[in-house]
Amino acid sequence: MELTAAGRPAFSNKTVQNSVQDLYGIEGDLEPLPAEWDQNFKLNGGDAGTFVVKIANRGCSKEVLEFQNSAMNRLSERWKSGKSPRVVTSLSGNSISTITNSAGVIFNIRVLTYLPGQPLAGVQTLCEQTQYRLGYSLGELDQHLFDFQHPAMNRDLPWDLRQADWITSHTRRIADVRRRGIVERIILQHRARVVTMLPKLSMSVIHNDANDENLLLKADPEGGWNVAGLLDFGDMLRTNTVNELAIACAYAIFRVENPLGVIARIAKGYHHARPLTESEIQVLFPLICMRLCVSVTNSAIAAKDDPDNEHRQISDQPAWEMLEHLESVDWRDAENHILAVCGLDPRPEANFGNRQWTYDELLDERRRRIGPSLSLSYKTPLQIVRGQGQFLFEPNERAYLDCVNNICHVGHSHPKVVAVMSKQAATLNTNTRYLHPYRIEYAERLTATFPEELNVCYFVNSGSEANELAVRLARAHTGRYDVIVLEGAYHGNTQTLVDLSPYKCEGPGGRGLPGWAHKVVKPDTYRGPYRGLGKDVGWAYAEHVGEVCERLVTEKRPPALFLCEPILGCGGQTVLPKGYLQKAFNYVRSIGGLCIVDEVQVGMGRVGSHMWAFETQGVIPDIVTLGKPLGNGYPLGA
Ligand SMILES: Cc1ncc(COP(=O)(O)O)c(C=O)c1O
Repeated sequence: MELTAAGRPAFSNKTVQNSVQDLYGIEGDLEPLPAEWDQNFKLNGGDAGTFVVKIANRGCSKEVLEFQNSAMNRLSERWKSGKSPRVVTSLSGNSISTITNSAGVIFNIRVLTYLPGQPLAGVQTLCEQTQYRLGYSLGELDQHLFDFQHPAMNRDLPWDLRQADWITSHTRRIADVRRRGIVERIILQHRARVVTMLPKLSMSVIHNDANDENLLLKADPEGGWNVAGLLDFGDMLRTNTVNELAIACAYAIFRVENPLGVIARIAKGYHHARPLTESEIQVLFPLICMRLCVSVTNSAIAAKDDPDNEHRQISDQPAWEMLEHLESVDWRDAENHILAVCGLDPRPEANFGNRQWTYDELLDERRRRIGPSLSLSYKTPLQIVRGQGQFLFEPNERAYLDCVNNICHVGHSHPKVVAVMSKQAATLNTNTRYLHPYRIEYAERLTATFPEELNVCYFVNSGSEANELAVRLARAHTGRYDVIVLEGAYHGNTQTLVDLSPYKCEGPGGRGLPGWAHKVVKPDTYRGPYRGLGKDVGWAYAEHVGEVCERLVTEKRPPALFLCEPILGCGGQTVLPKGYLQKAFNYVRSIGGLCIVDEVQVGMGRVGSHMWAFETQGVIPDIVTLGKPLGNGYPLGA
């Protein structure tokens, strides 16, 4: 069931008043209260007390209402200071009753005790002690609910921070591009820092909506504020416990000047009532930012889909203001600040030997010691100190999605890779001139992924070595020297490969192709000379291979080999047109040359549909070369 605008009840005061009198025996005036999906009233019952009448959205199941009631009952027993509403039973002893509208539609209705107090949203400034108390109360709440279970506690709710990634597909609803960028950057940081930590975070039932409207305060005699209570258990669910704190912080920092100070004091209070783990503190700041993103994304959606629901826009402006403000906060400083106020040690700086390097020292010394011609990526080069999964991290823990470091096929620091590598490093490391089952078993497993004809492996240390060896094998086998390559191709960094790679030898500082290397036009269906030729385009480009073969035979220097990638990597990520390799291979083989396919960059399943990209062309090469992802970035080629 889903909460919808259509399922929202719309009873008149009079109808509700009569029903409450019949069902609960309580008489009194009703005042409507704001609600996102339900219909709520304050009931002034005179001597009987003050109550809240809650008529639930049709999309909310009775089981979920029972879940909320049962949690409130537990809290009334354990949270002695009476900070949560109590469930009132009807004259017939039910905690959930029904009310029917004029169209005969039945809604669930409940009556709860009314908690007096001033919503946090209406309090101008919170003193430090109040911030601490707020956190402490939430810690108590979560402690009381920690072992609470109910059949309806596992819910799919857009407000569950554990499932917050749903906003990714809705960011386009945020019209302001700059603001959308803020949200997208936070989503990335959230994925990198929180999603990867989820298995380490404890889970329990939480209130899940300690926002500035739901948190009530009462003035204390010393001029500060005490926490009076917490309203609205409608979003309760089982999730990561720390989300409770993150949500409360996200709202408590609205319009404050020093959000980090406020967060730290709330966290400290929480920590004293329910100790936070280091992992929970590590994710707290990213979770707060993510909650603000969920809020603004939800407002952007509601602005279009549910424009009359003011409640869904209520946090939009302060949430944006805070997101813009938090852009300048260093996430690692935030984490260390919270760790410090909780009495925990800051996360140690990445340590590289005895010396602390500044960014400028790194840059200068690299140029001096490693040589300026070893290029660095980006105008302002990144200092990356760790990788996890698909993310790379700077020293301040800012995460980057790794789309260009094309080697970590199963992600950075994959625990299985780390475990087997550590085990092997502690066992044996030799050259290849000894017998060992692993090498043979690996060759067996690798060749099993190829067509039957490709059944022998030579293992080397890089893609360049693999191509170098393939060229040598082909030359030795044919007794010839010349090679045919594609325009724009790159095959490696040895002298032979630089010479035969147009990407290198025709690039800056290159000397052009030597006499033994022959280039054919790149089969680019998008830009090349035969674009728009439809299904025959592959055949048309392959004709160039045929022409070169013919010329080389005439010149009495037939080629030893034709070397190409099945999708050009450095050559512009160019996908070969259908039939290209088939026809090119036919020409080369018809004059006794070998066909070598370089899968260093595009192999190992990267094309999605096949394990090896040459399979998309329906050919079987004579030699295939592998590298980079084969060892997940560690030196291994074949
Ligand atoms: C297609 C292709 N072949 C070969 C190589 C060389 O591999 P390595 O850098 O491992 O020597 C590369 C490197 O980028 C490549 O992209």
